[in-house]
Amino acid sequence: MRKQKIQIKEVGPRDGLQNEDEIIETADKIEWIDRLSNTGLTYIEITSFVHPKWIPQLSDAREVAKAIKRYQGITYAALVPNMKGLDTALEANIDEVSVFMSASESHNQANINKSIIDTFPILEEVVQGAIQGGKTARGYISTAFGCPYEGEVPVEQVFRICDKLLEMGVREVSLGDTIGAASPNQIEDFLELALKRYKSTDLALHFHDTRGMALANVLAALDYGIETFDAALGGLGGCPYAPGASGNAATEDLVQMLNQMNINTGIDIQKLLQAGVFMRDKLQKNLPSHMLAAYTAQ
Ligand code: HMG
Ligand code: MG
Repeated sequence: MRKQKIQIKEVGPRDGLQNEDEIIETADKIEWIDRLSNTGLTYIEITSFVHPKWIPQLSDAREVAKAIKRYQGITYAALVPNMKGLDTALEANIDEVSVFMSASESHNQANINKSIIDTFPILEEVVQGAIQGGKTARGYISTAFGCPYEGEVPVEQVFRICDKLLEMGVREVSLGDTIGAASPNQIEDFLELALKRYKSTDLALHFHDTRGMALANVLAALDYGIETFDAALGGLGGCPYAPGASGNAATEDLVQMLNQMNINTGIDIQKLLQAGVFMRDKLQKNLPSHMLAAYTAQ
């Protein structure tokens, strides 16, 4: 059932940085992304075209997208909440547009200032506009495994949103454990149901490591044949509109685990670690990644 090749989607430059108060220089973001492009990663979410008041760290989205080196075989994606964001994203030649919403009403409201029902037509327009612009679209569902405001989120609610996003034309839905609430048994129970309804390739998993369970959750999902996981270098990450949310699964920890399981990611861990040190030095603090700590202690 486990796949022998896994795609890791690097979300560090977006999810990783959006929660950092220390504003990173645009030139450093560009250099970091260029370094990431040299690691063997095939997908990098580089920024967000959201309102700069909501996420000041990524207010240089256009400059970053225009200045990074583009390599063949790598998809450069960005988060886009609405048509205003899409216009800029298309102008900056983003390859894939990621729309996002939450499975819980209160997180959707806190994060994008809309009810769930009012969000659908906005995202549909963005997805259609991206496709007409010759791009592809991805959909995120936040709070898929628990909400900071509402607690448990019914699986049927996640499926309802997943159905809608797939109907709109996204090529994959990334299920976000925004506050790191999930446990392996919850992932197994979820996938047992979800894979009766969706193809495994319709789904990606996006684990935050708030309670130290991100890799355990990846392992559970691997056993169900999931082959796409989001991760952030250094274990950076978090959503400013989800109290208690902390970093994503660290890309280098995930690559190390998969390497040791003889599962291919195509990623050079040494280059990844060097790119991790680069951003750690810019942020001037230790990052949550285990591999980075072990590497820099040598
Ligand atoms: P709003 O205030 O409701 O927007 O924000 P609006 O449509 O009412 O417009 C208000 C003003 O914002 C207008 O300007 C618009 O032009 C401007 P004014 O006329 O007042 O001068 N505006 C924009 N400016 C720049 N770019 C735009 C844009 N849109 C409107 N795209 C909005 C609604 C969605 C824009 C806002 O709530 C927002 O930007 N939210 C972003 C929140 C965010 O980025 N959260 C983190 C990412 S999600 C996440 O981390 C979870 C994930 O990782 C998965 C997981 O872990 O679960 C994906
Ligand atoms: Mg996230």
